[in-house]
Amino acid sequence: MGSLAEARKGNIWTIVAHYGLQLVLFSIRFADSSYFLGWQEYEKNPYDEVKNPKGIIQMGLAENQLCFDLLESWLAKNPDAVSFKREEQSIFKELALFQDYHGLPAFKKALVDFMAEIRGNKVSFDTDHLVLTAGATSANETLMFCLAEKGDAILLPTPYYPGFDRDLKWRTGAEIVPIQCSSSNGFQITESALEAAYQEAQRKNLRVKGVLVTNPSNPLGTTMSRNELDLLVNFVTDKEIHLISDEIYSGTVFSSPAFVSIMEVLKDRKLENTQVWERVHVVYSLSKDLGLPGFRVVSSQTQYLLSAMLSDRKFTKEYISKNHKRLQKRQNKLVSGLEKAGISCLESNAGLFCWVDMRHLLSSNTFEAEMELWKRIVYDVKLNISPGSSCHCTEPGWFRVCFANMSEDTLKLAMQRLKSFVSSITIDNQTHQDLKNMRKKNRTKWVFRLSFQSFHDREQGER
Ligand SMILES: Cc1ncc(COP(=O)(O)O)c(C=O)c1O
Repeated sequence: MGSLAEARKGNIWTIVAHYGLQLVLFSIRFADSSYFLGWQEYEKNPYDEVKNPKGIIQMGLAENQLCFDLLESWLAKNPDAVSFKREEQSIFKELALFQDYHGLPAFKKALVDFMAEIRGNKVSFDTDHLVLTAGATSANETLMFCLAEKGDAILLPTPYYPGFDRDLKWRTGAEIVPIQCSSSNGFQITESALEAAYQEAQRKNLRVKGVLVTNPSNPLGTTMSRNELDLLVNFVTDKEIHLISDEIYSGTVFSSPAFVSIMEVLKDRKLENTQVWERVHVVYSLSKDLGLPGFRVVSSQTQYLLSAMLSDRKFTKEYISKNHKRLQKRQNKLVSGLEKAGISCLESNAGLFCWVDMRHLLSSNTFEAEMELWKRIVYDVKLNISPGSSCHCTEPGWFRVCFANMSEDTLKLAMQRLKSFVSSITIDNQTHQDLKNMRKKNRTKWVFRLSFQSFHDREQGER
């Protein structure tokens, strides 16, 4: 029998080895995805207007930096919220001591009111049914731990947010089975695609536990239609499975059609007191709408600050409206910049990105060609965008391009770089085509010469 010290050493070694292995596996998996690889490349050579003007511009990060002036001006006017004071008296001790693990009641109330406001006050949320986590990442993973395990599957419409492979699968052991959507109908979910995914999971001997959708969609930048939402409700009712609606981009809907939350559909269909209601889960976060992905809102200080900010209804109203306007303006800039480069995108009305169609720039209709183009865009053009394959898109040539994490000047520069790249490959392709045509012409001449020669020889011989 070994001593306690030896046993302890053994345990420590095991833990280190276990985490070490996990870290190695994580980095291999990171390297597997072009989504994360692009980030790594950006980190090595990040663009800076003054210090590194030839660096890589980050267009692969769905971050909202368009309204920091509004947040900062609110903070300047509300010093109590930042310095842990209430009516100028310190509440540091109150916040530092034990707090309800379910969250500060004032924060939960302010948050559900903000969520209702974003949904045009057509629906409401119950604070007793709210679970706070450190961001939507951990909400999705926690949900997955609750709903699924190894041998279970969750169905996801393609293309989907690349982070889901990490958040839903890695530690839970659950599988993702794609619901294949295509450009033929603007990547909308259809009844047959839902059924095909369900059958595919069964063929793989996986138990389907639910469907997860992002509405508005990352990476499409579109809101789901009422028809799609109805289809989903019918489907999960019929199959008796869960429905997760990740509505993290609900406050970014800048033009029509208006955002319809899954909650609104359930309410309209009077499903409140049914089993289906129990199996629908809404995920939300302040990472995108307020641009606060660094906050990971669980600690009391952060909740205190945000409860003051979100319960200031005059501020939230103005923030929501200005955020929409600025996002719309920025999206227009991206769309027109792309147009000038001869590139179009899926019509969108939400999100912090566009779903861009570069199929005409591929050397062939394959994912290898998509990778080839992506590498040229990252390494030569120096723009980090996300290839559709990293979002599990089934058609090569689509890319997600973010527009709200940079200044307008940087976006302009990015579009200039892209435009000259497209002209250079168009010239390359033209030269390539000219060469091909020339070769063809020469071959024709050659074939003509040969046949003329043989005809001539034959004529001569016959003479
Ligand atoms: C659809 C979707 N869900 C969840 C997340 C993660 O959000 P959070 O920063 O709140 O963890 C993201 C981030 O890009 C996302 O796009």
